[in-house]
Amino acid sequence: MDLAALEKQLRTLQASAETHVSAVTASAELDDLGSSLLGKRGAITEILRGIGDLPAEDRPKIGVIANEVRAAIDALVSARRETIKADELRDQIERERSDATTPGPAPSVGSLHPIPETIAAITEIMAAFGFVVAEGQEIEDDVTNFQLLNIPEDHPSRDLWDTLYLKEPGRLLRTHTSPGQIRTMQAGGPPIRVILPGRCFRYEAVDASHGFEFHQVEGLLVDRSASLSDLKGILNELARGLFGPATQTRFRPGYYPFTEPSVAVDVSWPGSKDGWMTILGAGMVHPVVLENGGIDPETHQGFAFGLGVERIAMLRHNIPDLRAFLENDIRFLSGFR
Ligand code: DAH
Repeated sequence: MDLAALEKQLRTLQASAETHVSAVTASAELDDLGSSLLGKRGAITEILRGIGDLPAEDRPKIGVIANEVRAAIDALVSARRETIKADELRDQIERERSDATTPGPAPSVGSLHPIPETIAAITEIMAAFGFVVAEGQEIEDDVTNFQLLNIPEDHPSRDLWDTLYLKEPGRLLRTHTSPGQIRTMQAGGPPIRVILPGRCFRYEAVDASHGFEFHQVEGLLVDRSASLSDLKGILNELARGLFGPATQTRFRPGYYPFTEPSVAVDVSWPGSKDGWMTILGAGMVHPVVLENGGIDPETHQGFAFGLGVERIAMLRHNIPDLRAFLENDIRFLSGFR
């Protein structure tokens, strides 16, 4: 091996490095190529092993050439590295480019559950007659839920309400919204026009038409004079507002301890067994109940009604099973927009 041969090897290496380096397109690949040329076990080191065969005066010369070649290849690799970095950055920017003017995903808009939706519909109709919304309380006492409503402790009519009692003596989950009548009367004197929507509870076996937890809306009007025909007029409007202007109503005698006389109200319902569907109970507030609310039955009269919200919602939306109201199934709930 002589000086010329070694120099040729180095120049050949430099030339082939130029081709290879410019062909590389990824940083990692370039790193590998760089060390295979310049590294400790790289091609230049390999070639320089032959230096030992040279006459002593030629050795520095080949050293100079080798350094030149090393510097040239090093410069090639560095230049290529800059180009690749710039390319990679440009690609990344391209990949991650986002257009701030692209419309985002549409936010999904919720809807009212059919129970509050029905309560809202009732509230709106009643508001037109000057009724305001008040609230009773879900945990009641026996006195207000029953006794002050003219339902004494051993009265057989208690069988109408299968009651969930609490551990604390005399406390229970209200079986109806009617105790709200007492609380409203006690809270302020007449004139009174309120509706009391809310949740009620009964010890019931659950099926398609019974829940242990359900909603009622109570209505109460107390004034110097109030008549059954006033009640009738308002309930007619309520029925038409809820079920459409062609709806007929039918008032049948009923029995509730807190109203006298009491009525059951039906609406015309084509397709039902006899063409009618019962939707609520109502009546003239019993004088004893007025007195229990702190109102003189000699100077004032009142009427009241109570309806089951689930029932109304089922009729309005054609829902066959009231358990659906509590299941929280989004496929059911999103049907009411
Ligand atoms: N509280 C009764 C029930 O739960 C419904 C009711 C009937 C309420 C007649 C009234 C009424 O205010 O006058 O079955």
